[in-house]
Amino acid sequence: MNKVIIAPSILSSDFANLESEINRLEIAGADWVHIDVMDGHFVPNLTIGAPVVKAIRRVCNIPLDVHLMIDNPEKYINDFALSGADIITFHYEAAKGKSLELINQIKTLGKKAGISIKPKTQVNEIKDLLPYADLLLVMTVEPGFGGQKFMDECALKIKEIKNLAPENLIIEVDGGINKETAKICTDYGANALVAGNYIFKSENISSAVESLRQK
Ligand code: DX5
Ligand code: ZN
Repeated sequence: MNKVIIAPSILSSDFANLESEINRLEIAGADWVHIDVMDGHFVPNLTIGAPVVKAIRRVCNIPLDVHLMIDNPEKYINDFALSGADIITFHYEAAKGKSLELINQIKTLGKKAGISIKPKTQVNEIKDLLPYADLLLVMTVEPGFGGQKFMDECALKIKEIKNLAPENLIIEVDGGINKETAKICTDYGANALVAGNYIFKSENISSAVESLRQK
């Protein structure tokens, strides 16, 4: 029950060989595949859309954890659900006061609903939503790019969330996760970790995945 979920982010993978990259993750013992969707508006970068998620679904046997860093998420949630996402996380800042509606939209589609908060968003702003979400994603870098430095001050929010959240809320952390920062996050109460650079730049991705689980 206490096992930490490891969700490697394919943003740092070799996009020319996505199928083999995903196979590698499955063999390495990854629990979920984290897919970063960026629109060039909510964040200054463009990445993956629903057709690519659909293609990944065909070659992947573990849950797809889709992180929407996009404006107007309500327009695209159905597409990502139909493409085979298992967990759909939108940004609180992009929901413009409609977070509860978005959670319901995702749950009605039979998917797990996640809310993500950027570094400057405080727990106080989202605390009333915690009982309704399946997952809360704490960003420990400004969303947009892989390979950035972990922001320690954001990690403190994990503790606050842990104290307020229902027992079954998944607390996931994303940005700058490595062996050391993973431990900080799990000590504070996180039970799901996203890691891009740390996993894909390692010599041995199985050991990298395993090292993130060490308490
Ligand atoms: C950043 C993305 C992350 C990113 C993490 O906006 O949400 O998922 O891929 O990359 P690392 O682990 O390299 O910080
Ligand atoms: Zn992400």
